[in-house]
Amino acid sequence: MQALREQLHHHAHQYYVLDTPQIPDAEYDRLFVELQALEAAHPEWVTPDSPTQRVGGKPLDQFAAVRHAVPMLSIRTETDTESSGAIAFDARVRKELELSETDPPVEYVTELKFDGLAMNLRYEHGVLVQAATRGDGETGEDVTQNIRTIGQIPLRIVATSSGGETCTPVPVPEVLEVRGEVYMRRDDFEALNERQRQRIAAGEKGEKTFVNPRNAAAGAVRQLDPAIAAQRPLSFFAYGVGEVTPPKHGGPSFSTHSELLQTLEKWGFPVATQVGLAQGATELVAYHQRIGQERDQLPYDIDGVVYKVNSLALQQRLGFVTREPRWAVAHKYPAQEQLTTVVAIDVQVGRTGKLTPVAKLAPVFVGGVTVTNATLHNEDEARRKDVRVGDTVVVRRAGDVIPEVVSVLAEKRHSGAVQFSMPRVCPVCGSAAVREEGEADYRCTGGLFCSAQRKQAILHFAQRRAVEVDGLGDKLVEQLVDAGIVNTLPDLYCLGLTALAALDRMAEKSAQNLLDALQNSKQTTLPRFLFGLGIRHVGEATAKALARHFGTLDAIMDAPLETLQGVNDVGPIVALSLRTFFDQPHNREVVEQLRACGVQWPEGKPVAAGPKPLAGKTLVLTGTLPTLGRDAAKDLIEAAGGKVSGSVSKKTHYVVAGAEAGSKLEKAQELGVPVLDEAGLMELLK
Ligand code: IVH
Repeated sequence: MQALREQLHHHAHQYYVLDTPQIPDAEYDRLFVELQALEAAHPEWVTPDSPTQRVGGKPLDQFAAVRHAVPMLSIRTETDTESSGAIAFDARVRKELELSETDPPVEYVTELKFDGLAMNLRYEHGVLVQAATRGDGETGEDVTQNIRTIGQIPLRIVATSSGGETCTPVPVPEVLEVRGEVYMRRDDFEALNERQRQRIAAGEKGEKTFVNPRNAAAGAVRQLDPAIAAQRPLSFFAYGVGEVTPPKHGGPSFSTHSELLQTLEKWGFPVATQVGLAQGATELVAYHQRIGQERDQLPYDIDGVVYKVNSLALQQRLGFVTREPRWAVAHKYPAQEQLTTVVAIDVQVGRTGKLTPVAKLAPVFVGGVTVTNATLHNEDEARRKDVRVGDTVVVRRAGDVIPEVVSVLAEKRHSGAVQFSMPRVCPVCGSAAVREEGEADYRCTGGLFCSAQRKQAILHFAQRRAVEVDGLGDKLVEQLVDAGIVNTLPDLYCLGLTALAALDRMAEKSAQNLLDALQNSKQTTLPRFLFGLGIRHVGEATAKALARHFGTLDAIMDAPLETLQGVNDVGPIVALSLRTFFDQPHNREVVEQLRACGVQWPEGKPVAAGPKPLAGKTLVLTGTLPTLGRDAAKDLIEAAGGKVSGSVSKKTHYVVAGAEAGSKLEKAQELGVPVLDEAGLMELLK
C-alpha cells in the first residue's frame, strides 16, 4: 500500500504540477483503484496523506477559526500603471538601507501577482494537516477538506527532489507552512460556468454562474461540502512560507527568497515559471513591461507583479510598517474587467451580410480604454450568456482583443427584461435574414442591395492590406453611400472634385487628397486586388496562393472547381465560393469596370502545371539550408504539390533540416520521420 501511495504521489506531481505525465491516465486509474481496494480491505492502514483521501469528509455546518502561527501580511500596492511604481519602491528600499548612489543595485525577486486567494498550508512531519484562508491576517478559516481536493497540492512532502536525480534532496522541516495563492485557470472557469448554465437550464435550484475566476475560486474554497468543492477545478502557486521549524538533523537554511522558492519547487509545489531576478529599478521596470505584454497569454488572471528584496538578511533589516513589509511591493496593471450596464443590443451588418449582435454599454474604463461596445458574436452566444437590455454585466478587454461580455449579474436583473432574439429581417435594408443549417450566423440576403454590405465592401477594398485608398475611412464611406454618390466599387474612380468637396466636412484640399489616393491605388498587385474583392473565404493568404498558382486574374476567373481545389490551402468551400462569385455576371462586370478605370497589376506566369511529385505530402523545414532561403524552399515544395507545416508530428512525411536545426529535428528522430538535407529535397522535387 505504501509503495502504491508513493507511485501515485509521484505520478500526480508529474501530471498536475510538471504537466508531463509519464503514464497514461488509465494506468494511473488502475493503480488508484488497486489502492482503494486494499484500503477497503484494511481500513486500519488508511493514512490521511493517501491519494484516495483527497475527497473525504462530510459537509460542514461552518468552518473552524484558525489562528495563524505567523500573521499573514498584506503588501503595499503601487496602483500607478507606469514605471514610477518600481522606481519609487527601489528608492525607498535604498533609503531605508542607507545606500548611496555609488552602491551596487539591490537584487530583487520578481513574481506575478496572482488574482486568487491567499492560503496557508501547514505540514507537520511532511504531512498536510491544515489549510487556512488569510481572514483578517491574524485568524483565518480552516478549509483543509476543500484544499485537499486540489491535485497540485502535495498531501505529503518528501525530502527527495522532484527535479531529477541530479538535485540534492532537501530535508523537510518538522513544521512547514507554505503560503501561496489558490486560483482558477480561465479555461477551467469557462468550463465551470458552462456546466453551471446547463444546471440552471435544467432547473436545478440554488445554482448560479460566477462573475470571474477569482470569485469562482473563492466560492469553491468556502464551499461547505467537499464533494462539491472537488468538482470546482482549482490550482495553486506557492510564493512564500509562514512558520518553519528545522528538522533535528540539519534542516534547510536559506539566505535568499529565490533559494526558498527553488526549494519549495523541489518539494513539489508549483512555482510560476515567470519568477525572475532583477538588479535595481531598471530591471524591475523591464519586468513590469514584459509581463504586461505577456499577461493576456497567461492561462490565468494576474492583476500585477510583485517585487521582493531577495536577501533575507536585508528583508529583516527593512522590517515592517504596520501590517506591510517594507521589502515587498505589488505593482498593478489596469483592471481588465469592469461592471457596466447594457443600454441596448444592436445588430450590425458586416461585409458578407453577417448579422452580429453588439451590446451597447454605458461607457466604462477597462483594460486601459473606454469601452462602449462589446460583441455578442451570434445568436447562440447571446442566448448562452443570456444578455438582456438593462442587465449589469462584466465586460472584459484584454490587450488588443475586442471587448467581450463575460457574464451577467443575474441578481441585478430588472423584472420584465426580455430575452434577446435575432431579427428575421436585415435591420439595414429589410431583406430577409436567414441562418443556414449548420451555420452559427444569420445573414442578410440583400447582397449589394444592402447599403451596410456596400459600405463594408468598399471599406474592405480600400483597406491598407487590399488596394489601399489612403484616407477613405468609415465616416467618408458612410457619407458617400448614403448620399448615393458611390454604389459600387468602380464608382469610386468616377468621383469628381466638385461632388466630393460638396460633402459635409470636406474641404477642397482633403477632396483632392482623396482623389490622389484613388489615383495611387490604381497601381496594385494581383493578390491585393483579389483579396480586395471581398470574396467569402478568400483571405490574404488564399489570394496570394491563387495569384502564385494561376498568374493572371482571367485564369482564376475561368478556372473550373477541380482546378481551383488543386491550389494549396484551397478546399471545396473556398473553391465553391470563388466559382459562385465569378459565375455572377455583375461581379465580372465590376472587375471589368475597375480595369477600365485603370486599376492594374503586373500579371505573372502560371506555375507550370507539370507533375506534382509531392502531392499529399507534408514537410517541415528547420534550420538554415545551404543555398535555399526558407521562402524559396516553401515555394518549391508548394509548387510540387506539397504542404509545409510548422510542427513535426506522426503525420509529417519529411523533415528538411539545415544547419543549427533544433527541437524539430530531435522530434523527427524521436518519431522516426525521414530527415532530408537540401540535396535530398532537390532529389525529391525531381
Ligand atoms: S507575498 C509579506 N506574493 O496579494 C508578503 N502575495 O496583499 C505577503 N498575492 O492576498 C504576500 N501574488 O495572496 C505575495 N507573488 C505574490 C502574490 C501575493 C498574489 C496576494 C496575496 C495577498 C495579497 C497581498
